[in-house]
Amino acid sequence: MASLTIRPGQPLRGTITVPGDKSITHRAIIMTSLADGVGRIKRYCRGEDCLNTMRALQSLGVTIDEAVDELRIHGKGLWGLTEPGGIVDCGNSGTGIRLLTGLLAGQDFFAVLTGDQSIRRRPMGRVVKPLREMGAMIAGRKGGELAPLAVTGTTLRAINYATPVASAQIKSSLLWAALFAKGTSKLSEPRLSRDHTERLFEFYGLPLARTGLTLTLEGRPSVGWMAAPELTVPGDLSAAAFFIVGATVVPGSDVTITGVGVNPTRTGLLDVMDRMGADIQLLNRRDEAGEPVADLRVRSAPLRGVTIGPEEIPQTIDEFPILCVAAAVAEGATVITGAEELRVKESDRIATMATELRSMGAQMTERPDGMVIHGIGHPKENGQLQATNGRSHGDHRVAMSLAIGGLTASKESVIDETECIDTSFPGFYEKLRALMGGGHA
Ligand code: S3P
Repeated sequence: MASLTIRPGQPLRGTITVPGDKSITHRAIIMTSLADGVGRIKRYCRGEDCLNTMRALQSLGVTIDEAVDELRIHGKGLWGLTEPGGIVDCGNSGTGIRLLTGLLAGQDFFAVLTGDQSIRRRPMGRVVKPLREMGAMIAGRKGGELAPLAVTGTTLRAINYATPVASAQIKSSLLWAALFAKGTSKLSEPRLSRDHTERLFEFYGLPLARTGLTLTLEGRPSVGWMAAPELTVPGDLSAAAFFIVGATVVPGSDVTITGVGVNPTRTGLLDVMDRMGADIQLLNRRDEAGEPVADLRVRSAPLRGVTIGPEEIPQTIDEFPILCVAAAVAEGATVITGAEELRVKESDRIATMATELRSMGAQMTERPDGMVIHGIGHPKENGQLQATNGRSHGDHRVAMSLAIGGLTASKESVIDETECIDTSFPGFYEKLRALMGGGHA
């Protein structure tokens, strides 16, 4: 079992890049596999989650040449996928299994999808139920609520569906099913969740229309589409988040993270940190593959507690573990509400962060839909957590958040069960160490 040792005491200084965006990488692999022609995906996320999606598409008959810095995908065309020879293993990835379930529902073959222990506990009914309304034939544990899921591909009909939760995984799963369905589907969500699938559909010229929170997609487009010859995935803001908070809370820090995706459906952390008093500059704004990108310069600053309500949850959803660390060292209380989705992530992130940060001396009260964190900061500087021997609970974002929390302690911390970091951010520790030595990585 892997563990990380965090020795505090050095400011974070230097310029780094972070891995390509995990959400966009999953989608770009699927999308390019369905296109005609060869597409290159540069700066893809090499986390295990995305590699599992890549292997899934390979098992569906797609040839993918894998190099460290790019994937070359030989698209099979809209109807070119073929039956996998074995069970499709999505590992730890909720995005992978939910997107692939939608994709496979409308094919003309049978497939079984599963994942690790955490995936087999997470809710799948949220995609299975609407997919069944489209005519999908999906069986699974607990009536299809839990993986493994057995999908017997069939002819789907279009759907008119309002998702009860703002979830990009549900939306995207249904969009891929709708692409293979007969007729025109309409989908809406209560708040805008990350819109990478919509942007990729648009980037590839698919017949998707957006009006407010409603998407309209014509299924079975009569013409195929060509793979974009080259697509560069923006750096993952959710990976950059650990260094954004790290540089903010460790005195004397000054970190630049280049080429980070700043799609407004993802930048809740930047808005919240801004209200907390952080010093974050967005430089060199540009567009890559239909996504906004910028370089982020972050200098340390004292933080104050803030209120985060339901309207801010979708664009901040993956950043709550690291935001808890920021709130724990801020001055005053941070109140988070409307965030019950955190309970069904890779771990129950409300419970795991409360347990782990309390052992570092933070004061946290759990609520069913969020938490109250009483920061231990002082008016002029961020407070200090206690050194810990913490554990990730198998959750990559919890592991990295605790490592950053450890940077504010006065003594060395050890974080156990850190192999899960590789699901999204291989090389995290090396980047952190490079910054602690004032370097570049
Ligand atoms: C993701 C959507 C979010 C997010 C997850 C990635 C995606 O999940 O938490 O890490 O790539 O679509 P939900 O759709 O369940 O909110």
